Amino acid sequence: MSEQIQISQATDKKAKYESLLPQIESLISGETDLIANLANISAALHTVFGWWWVGFYLVKSDELVLAPFQGPLACTRIKFGKGVCGTAWKEKKSLLVPDVNKFPGHIACSSQSVSEIVVPIFNTQKEVIGVLDIDSEKYDILDETDVYYLEKLTEIISKFLST
Ligand code: SME
Repeated sequence: MSEQIQISQATDKKAKYESLLPQIESLISGETDLIANLANISAALHTVFGWWWVGFYLVKSDELVLAPFQGPLACTRIKFGKGVCGTAWKEKKSLLVPDVNKFPGHIACSSQSVSEIVVPIFNTQKEVIGVLDIDSEKYDILDETDVYYLEKLTEIISKFLST
């Protein structure tokens, strides 16, 4: 099956998410493999928004391990409670970091990355099974609109996990 995402580049961020999310939901409904789906989701997000780095980490025992992503090489393992990703896991909530220099303990996988959003992915027992991480090379470019829609996206992934 050929997968294509169609988003007008002329539309604003909110409109892009509104158009993208149903397409992602449809895309992953045709495939049962989690890694394959996370790979296509990271590709779709990267294509539409052009972020510096977008991808997933999955929980494996006491750490997050690098999973499908788009962008430069990244740290492979992050301990519970460490960095933005490990903190989002520990606190079970999304973290919006407009300037990574102001987040104590931020893990700098790339010096180009200066702002970040991390959104946890939950299973049906409300345990965190992984995180979605978005990094930008621009300060203050990610905001509550991104948090809102990226949480909707991780809900779509949670729904997929429960089927
Ligand atoms: N900056 C993240 C680490 C992951 S990378 O940015 C891809 C953190 O502090 O958890």
